[in-house]
Amino acid sequence: MTARIGPASRVLIVVGIVLIGLVLLSKLSMAVALGAFAVMLVAGLLAGRPVPFVASPATDVVASALAVPGISPIDPVIAALPDAVILLDRDSRVVAFNPPARAIAPALARGTALALALRVPEIVAAVREVEATGEARRIEYSERVPIDRWFAVHVAPVAPRFKLLAFQDLTPLRRVEEMRADFVANASHELRTPLAALSGFIDTLLGPAREDVAARERFLGIMKGQAERMARLIGDLLSLSRVELNEHLPPDTPLDLVPIVRQVADGLQTLARDREVEIHIALPDEPFIVAGDRDELTRAYENLIENALKYGASGKKIEISFNRAPGVAGPEAVVRVRDFGPGIPAEHLPRLTERFYRIDVGHSRAEGGTGLGLALVKHILIRHRGRLLIESTQGQGATFTTRLPLTGSAT
Ligand SMILES: Nc1ncnc2c1ncn2[C@@H]1O[C@H](COP(=O)(O)OP(=O)(O)OP(=O)(O)O)[C@@H](O)[C@H]1O
Ligand SMILES: [Mg+2]
Repeated sequence: MTARIGPASRVLIVVGIVLIGLVLLSKLSMAVALGAFAVMLVAGLLAGRPVPFVASPATDVVASALAVPGISPIDPVIAALPDAVILLDRDSRVVAFNPPARAIAPALARGTALALALRVPEIVAAVREVEATGEARRIEYSERVPIDRWFAVHVAPVAPRFKLLAFQDLTPLRRVEEMRADFVANASHELRTPLAALSGFIDTLLGPAREDVAARERFLGIMKGQAERMARLIGDLLSLSRVELNEHLPPDTPLDLVPIVRQVADGLQTLARDREVEIHIALPDEPFIVAGDRDELTRAYENLIENALKYGASGKKIEISFNRAPGVAGPEAVVRVRDFGPGIPAEHLPRLTERFYRIDVGHSRAEGGTGLGLALVKHILIRHRGRLLIESTQGQGATFTTRLPLTGSAT
């Protein structure tokens, strides 16, 4: 009987000893002790009976499930996985796969040989290696058509001679790497140009123009301009990385947008006079309160109004307006900066907020631009949980609209 009730027997022996002890100590009557022991014995026997369903190790489940294709309980498990997964049988035929896998290989079908469903020689070779060695393998491959995509595939043996292919989409990671490389290339290129000019002038001043006072004055003026340009570029890059770093922490100081925009417009009056542009600003009567960072918002409107003055000067005027409009999460402050200059061709609109993107590099450089202004505006607005909209009809100017969530009252 001990063998039948298995591990419960030890419990019964201990309980028996305790009951005998209690009877001997006169704490319990013999009748009660025998009754309690009988109850324990019955419970032990019931617990020791063989159970109709016994959970087996995961590999057994996989193996038995695969023996009955079509009703495999592995299907919902694979379907629930977010990344592409394909299960292969011992002949490397597809047993199960999920929708992300079908998106990668539209020819996937149960029972198809992997080599036919997914024509990637690297994967087929990896599967063979896993079959031969019984050890997991990881490979990477890329696709060129219809678009560039990169994947890592982990091939693992799951049950004797079955293989699980788990895909990891590396495309976003590669894109970020590419963007970072582009960014470094652009930044160093932007710095190299003024640096080359500076060292050229230094050589001239040390050599042929050593005694030429007039040339020295002129060259030093140009050198100062180039040095300032480099300083501006580094300053903009630092601001951009600071804003990006804090993007997940929205500012929480309630601020009125109206005086901020008005001060920026006042500060740019000299530039406006130089360019013979009039700034029309329709000031609202009531405040427009947003949770904001004063310096960052000043920076953003400075760039938008300065751009309108620099690139839209031919229109002779710019208009700034304030409005309230319903947004996704409540009312929003809508500030529009409109110029009447040449406008922006449609193909450039989606790329304007990219770092260093300029429609006319020469014009922007001549204006002392670094091409980082709108990237900064975009990130400042993202940090403020707002957004930037750019509209333009060629020949009729451009409108840059900021939308920021409105909050309660200012402090
Ligand atoms: N109002 C506008 N009208 C026409 N083109 C514009 C206007 N605003 C911006 N652009 C174009 O967008 C480009 C990018 O602007 P952005 O503010 O990012 O850089 P930038 O003005 O060249 O340099 P920075 O702002 O760093 O001084 C400009 O070079 C210009 O070609
Ligand atoms: Mg600018």
